[in-house]
Amino acid sequence: MTKKITRLFLNPNEMAFRKYFWPQLESQTITKVFRPGSRLEGDERGYKEGRIVVARVIDSIGSDWAGIPPEFFEELSKTIRIEKTQVKKIGDLKREDFCGASSDVQDQESLKTQLGLIYNLFPADLADDLPVTIISFSYLSMANHPVSSKKTIKQLENEGIITIAKKPENNAVGFAHEKSHTITFVEDDYPAKTPVMWNAVYAAFQLPCSQAMFVSQVENLPEILDGLRRDENYRGGGFGVGFKDQAVAYLDKVDEMARKIGAVNVVVKNSDGLLVGYNTDGIGYAESLAEFFMKKSQPLAGKKVVLIGSGGTANAIAFALALRKMKVVILNRTIEKAQLLARRINAHFGFAEDAVVRFGAETEITKEVVDADVILNVSTKGACGHLEKYLPLASATLPATEENIKENHRESREVFAKIPAHALISDVILGSGDTAFIAIAKEKNFQTLNGVPMVINQGIEAMWLVHEAEMEALGISKIDLYNVMKQAAGF
Ligand SMILES: NC(=O)c1ccc[n+]([C@@H]2O[C@H](COP(=O)([O-])OP(=O)(O)OC[C@H]3O[C@@H](n4cnc5c(N)ncnc54)[C@H](OP(=O)(O)O)[C@@H]3O)[C@@H](O)[C@H]2O)c1
Repeated sequence: MTKKITRLFLNPNEMAFRKYFWPQLESQTITKVFRPGSRLEGDERGYKEGRIVVARVIDSIGSDWAGIPPEFFEELSKTIRIEKTQVKKIGDLKREDFCGASSDVQDQESLKTQLGLIYNLFPADLADDLPVTIISFSYLSMANHPVSSKKTIKQLENEGIITIAKKPENNAVGFAHEKSHTITFVEDDYPAKTPVMWNAVYAAFQLPCSQAMFVSQVENLPEILDGLRRDENYRGGGFGVGFKDQAVAYLDKVDEMARKIGAVNVVVKNSDGLLVGYNTDGIGYAESLAEFFMKKSQPLAGKKVVLIGSGGTANAIAFALALRKMKVVILNRTIEKAQLLARRINAHFGFAEDAVVRFGAETEITKEVVDADVILNVSTKGACGHLEKYLPLASATLPATEENIKENHRESREVFAKIPAHALISDVILGSGDTAFIAIAKEKNFQTLNGVPMVINQGIEAMWLVHEAEMEALGISKIDLYNVMKQAAGF
C-alpha cells in the first residue's frame, strides 16, 4: 500500500487534489481546476502564475477550524507549474473555459455540483454570480522523471545555461569540473559571502574541494539537478534567492523542517547519490540570537519577538524562533502571507491558533513593540536597491521619493519612541556597513544585532551537513569553522 503522510496545512509549494483525480493527474489528462472565490496571487491561499508546485493527493480530509489534519499519500504526487489564474463568475463561464478540466466538470451545472460536494456549499451559495478561480497548469519533469537532454554541468556551463557569478569574492577558486566541488546557484549575481567563506575553510584545513557560485534561472532547475545527480565530483552546495522555494519540488528528498518552511538553502548529495535539501537560514539566525542572550545569561524561550516580513527568509526564521519557544508576532505588508505563515507554524507545533505565533499588518507595529524583547527586520525594507533608505518600522510607499522616505522616517521615529529600552533591534540585511535601521537604533542607544552572525552560522550548519564525516575524522569542530569563516567574510 502507498505510504501516507499526515500533515495539517499545505505549504505554498503544494496543491491538494482529491483521490478521485489521481488517475487523471497520473495520465496528465487534467490541466485545469476550479476553486471557489478569488485565489489569485496575494489572496489567501492564492496561486502565483509561474510557480512550480507539488500536486498531492489527499487520503482523508481534514478540517482547518477543528485542527484535524488531512492525510496525504506520500508517493502520489506530480510536479506542476501554475500557468494561468483567472477569476470569472460561474454564469460567465464558456465551453472553452472547461477545456482541460476533469471529465465530471464540463459545464456550469456540473461545476456547481462538484464545488457543492467538495466545499460543502449550499445550492443557494452556488449562484451564477459566484466568482471562481480557474487555475491552469502544466506538468514538469521531476527528480524521478529523467530529463531528456541529459547534459553535464560542464555542458550547461559551455552552453551558457549556467554562468560563474562574477561579484562574490574568491568565487570558484580552484574549481574544476574534474575535481571534488560544491556549487551554489543564485538567480542574480551579487557579492555573496558563501564562496569566500567555503573556499577559506577548504584552504585552511586542506580539504580537497572547492566552491563555485553559478547564476542561472529557475526554469533550468530540472536540467541542473539532473546534471548534479550525474556529476561524480559534486558533493552538495546551496540555493540562494530565486531558487530556494522552487527547489523543494525537484529534489529527491527534503528534510521535514525545510518542507514545512517551504524553502531549501542547502543540498547534500548522500551516499546513494540522492540530492537532499535542508534549510539552515532559520537555525543560523536563531543561533545568533541565542548567543546574544546567552552572554546576558538569558534564555530565548518566552521572549517576545516582533518579526517584520513574511518572505522566504522570514518563513525559515519564524519556524526556528517558534521552535526555541519564543513568542513570535509576524507583521507584514501583505497580511495574508503573515496569517498563512502563523497558521502553518502553529499547526506544525500543535499550538492553538493564535496562541503562540500571532500575525498582523505592518501598521500594527506601534502597538506590538511596546512589550517586545526583540524587533527583527526580515523584510527587504532597507535592503540595497530602491528600498535602501526606508526603515522597517513603517510602511515603505514607493516610489522612493524624498517625501515618501521622509514620511517613513517620521512614522518610524514615533514607533522607536514606544520601544522599551531593553529591547534588541535586529536586522538580517547584509551590506557594506550598518543598515539605516541599525544605525538609528545605535544612535538611540539600543542594543543591536545585524545579519553577520546569521550568515556565518547558517554557513557553518550548511558546510557541516555536506562535510560532517570528513570534518569529524580530521577533528575539525564547528568553532574552527566559525573562526575561519568570520575572518574570511571580513567581519
Ligand atoms: N543575513 C543573512 O544571512 C541573510 C540570509 C537570507 C536573507 N537575508 C536578507 O533577508 C531579506 C529578506 O529576504 P527574503 O528572501 O525573505 O525576501 P523575499 O522573500 O523577497 O521577501 C521580501 C519581504 O519584504 C517585504 N517587502 C518588500 N517590499 C516591501 C515594501 N515596499 N513595503 C513593505 N514590505 C515590503 C515583503 O512583503 P510582502 O509579503 O508584502 O511582499 C516580504 O515580506 C533580504 O534583504 C535578504 O538579503 C539575509
